[in-house]
Amino acid sequence: MADESQKWVLMVTAQTPTNIAVIKYWGKRDETLILPVNDSISVTLDPEHLCTTTTVAVSPSFDKDRMWLNGKEISLSGGRFQSCLREIRCRAGDVEDEKKGIKIAKKDWEKLHVHIASYNNFPTAAGLASSAAGLACLVFSLAKLMNVKEDHGKLSAIARQGSGSACRSLYGGFVKWIMGKDEKGSDSIAVQLADEKHWDDLVIVIAVVSSRQKETSSTTGMRETVETSMLLQHRAKEVVPKRILQMEEAIRNRDFASFAHLTCADSNQFHAVCLDTCPPIFYMNDTSHRIISIVEKWNRSEGTPQVAYTFDAGPNAVMIARNRKVAGVLLQKLLFYFPPQPDTDLNSYVIGDKSILKDAGLEGMKDVEALPPPPEIKDNIPAQKYKGDVSYFICTRPGKGPVLLSDESQALLNPESGLPK
Ligand code: DP6
Repeated sequence: MADESQKWVLMVTAQTPTNIAVIKYWGKRDETLILPVNDSISVTLDPEHLCTTTTVAVSPSFDKDRMWLNGKEISLSGGRFQSCLREIRCRAGDVEDEKKGIKIAKKDWEKLHVHIASYNNFPTAAGLASSAAGLACLVFSLAKLMNVKEDHGKLSAIARQGSGSACRSLYGGFVKWIMGKDEKGSDSIAVQLADEKHWDDLVIVIAVVSSRQKETSSTTGMRETVETSMLLQHRAKEVVPKRILQMEEAIRNRDFASFAHLTCADSNQFHAVCLDTCPPIFYMNDTSHRIISIVEKWNRSEGTPQVAYTFDAGPNAVMIARNRKVAGVLLQKLLFYFPPQPDTDLNSYVIGDKSILKDAGLEGMKDVEALPPPPEIKDNIPAQKYKGDVSYFICTRPGKGPVLLSDESQALLNPESGLPK
């Protein structure tokens, strides 16, 4: 007969946002501890539209640590997963669940195994910082399960060892990852600059750009940049420290012109550093370049920036509009240049916060092709259109940090077996 005392399963479910850097992290000074060559600043994206949900479970009946991502079992043997698990485990505390009659002493955690199930509410393949949300969620949920009494700063230093950008996903709003000085990385942590309510006019539109090309991973790309680019040294030492101060001030004062100027310049310099790598790395494609031109032309015609753009290690454009009205106009322009394929309706072409479409009078629009050309096209040459070059758009906004989901129906693991539902 099975030992009754072996039957319990204790679970925690959490949700963690993804983030987009406006001052980029690119380059490590320590590959194992994941210590960067410069500070970075990001905006956390609303988890309603882009997030990872993770359930972690512990049971004496589990015989090894296991993980499932979007329903498929994946290996936990990688060094980065192991670092996160080790760092969390050694900080575990006593846990008691009186209702279930479960008692776990601090020292028991060394012998107990965990099951982890993670799910992204956006396509992992779209290249939208899924590792940042994923690793942050893993660390946050395990810390809750194991009653780790560390603050978010300490947890961010653990998430950092899973993936650098993950440390910034432990907070909502505007977040700075301080590079730190310590060789062990104890001071390389994320801090919140302002919460998501501080600047809630901002609207974020992401163009998921179709791409056939297999991209160089961030990890490999930045290693090659560190090894070969002189421009990176200049960027890390001379450019970023000044930009960080200016960006902090722009965020503090909700100074959109300065925020947009810095965001675009830093994205462009990051891609310039990629081009300065040997062999050169190309993350943006023609569509990305077209989007930059559209935004630049519009900003110039208005005399002051309306929209900022930024691109990570891939061709997708993340555009930040100064307010909802501007975001509506931006969508009109983007839909003019990048109309959906004839078999795609607008409702599935623009996803996320649909109220932007509605406010711009675009909701339910049947014939996107009939949209008038943007006024900054002054010449008589008909504007070229690029149907099919954007897969879809996501409308979102700055959002909150990690949260626990207490409703058991949202758990990804079965409460009896501890296996994926
Ligand atoms: C271009 O955090 O994915 O998105 O630390 O090697 O896991 P690893 O890299 P990762 O790099 C992100 C790079 C970036 C810029 C940024 O998010 O700051």
